[in-house]
Amino acid sequence: MKEKIIEKFNLGKTLTYDELSYFFNGYLSNDVSDEEMTIVLKNICKNGLSEQEIFDLVDIFIKSGDTLHFDFPTIDKHSTGGVGDKTTLVVLSILASCGVKIVKMSGRALGYTGGTIDKLESIGVNVNLTYEEVLKQVNNIGMVITSQTKNLCPMDKKIYALRDVTGTTNSLALIAISIMSKKIAGGSDNILIDVKVGRGALVRTAKEAKLLANLMISIGKKYNKKVVCMLTRMDNPLGNNIGNSIEILEVLDVLKDKVRNNLYYLSYDMASVMLSIYTGMKIRDARNKVKEAITSGKAYDKFVEFVNYQGGKLEIRLERPIEIYAKESGFIKSIDAKELGSLSMELGAGRSLTNKNIDYNAGIILEKNVCDFVSRGETLCMLYGKNSVDIDRAFKAFKIQKNRPFMKSIIIKIIK
Ligand code: URA
Repeated sequence: MKEKIIEKFNLGKTLTYDELSYFFNGYLSNDVSDEEMTIVLKNICKNGLSEQEIFDLVDIFIKSGDTLHFDFPTIDKHSTGGVGDKTTLVVLSILASCGVKIVKMSGRALGYTGGTIDKLESIGVNVNLTYEEVLKQVNNIGMVITSQTKNLCPMDKKIYALRDVTGTTNSLALIAISIMSKKIAGGSDNILIDVKVGRGALVRTAKEAKLLANLMISIGKKYNKKVVCMLTRMDNPLGNNIGNSIEILEVLDVLKDKVRNNLYYLSYDMASVMLSIYTGMKIRDARNKVKEAITSGKAYDKFVEFVNYQGGKLEIRLERPIEIYAKESGFIKSIDAKELGSLSMELGAGRSLTNKNIDYNAGIILEKNVCDFVSRGETLCMLYGKNSVDIDRAFKAFKIQKNRPFMKSIIIKIIK
């Protein structure tokens, strides 16, 4: 049967539900090897899947583990992964301070992209909560962030790990199945997906991102879930800070209403869209509520309450950094997100084969961001961490030009 299924994949034939279930469940029970699954994943990357095969695999992934149910209206968010992306922490604090009940299961860093769970662990937040603890907390303070329980979509966990090492991460069908199976199993009625597009993202073009968004929306419809996709740019890092505790510092600044950068604008827009979906209020009214939550300090207080409730401490002390100076004057045209994500990882902020433990205070702070003017000799960014790195890479990530560049909006499109 296994050989027949691989043969059908090789010939580009459509597979039935039973065949897909036999093969994928066989992988989970170790009856199908990594090598056999890799052949199939590579085939999927090359030839795609039919819509029915995608729906069938979502169902098979969901049924591989537990599903959660809440007896109150819920909303969830997911990002396809980026550099400096700490919007979850900002957006959830805003929403919970506006009375939304929100339970978010987050992941760890993957490759050069950061993970919310590592960021929270950097300040001692307990991210291993039981279902009972989650329910108690969401009823008490409105927001919970916890790591994905072991038995929620175990199929995705195993296949994602294989995709990561076999160059099969960027198939739109596989991304849609991976995200939607987790979100549906997580029990939310409403789901906002931030589809990152660009140099620092899995999806490189807006055209592909639209296809992915429409696919996820149609999967959501099958399960009676409202899915809204925001296509957002990930060419430059999001915000000014990259790392773990270093990113928490920026979350505090945004919630204190102290910065106006792409992180602030994206968080503001995302929270407004989510509040409008959750409550049914007009987007204009949602935007006013979100603004008030930030300016009044309610969202900041909610974040502090959340950190304390889950046992964390907001005491972040960074070591002396290495400063990277501009070698010429001009406007910053772009900052290579992928390059700085990898550099931050090498400084110690991410995991690799040689570095299993994260240095929570490692990372990068940008002193200048896109469209800013920099004079020769001024600081472009600061590098934190104990590992030595090629500092020229930081310098080269900044492209500087004479004329002021056109500032593109962080949001490309919202698809419902
Ligand atoms: N995020 C996921 O959860 N899965 C993917 O495949 C890509 C991004």
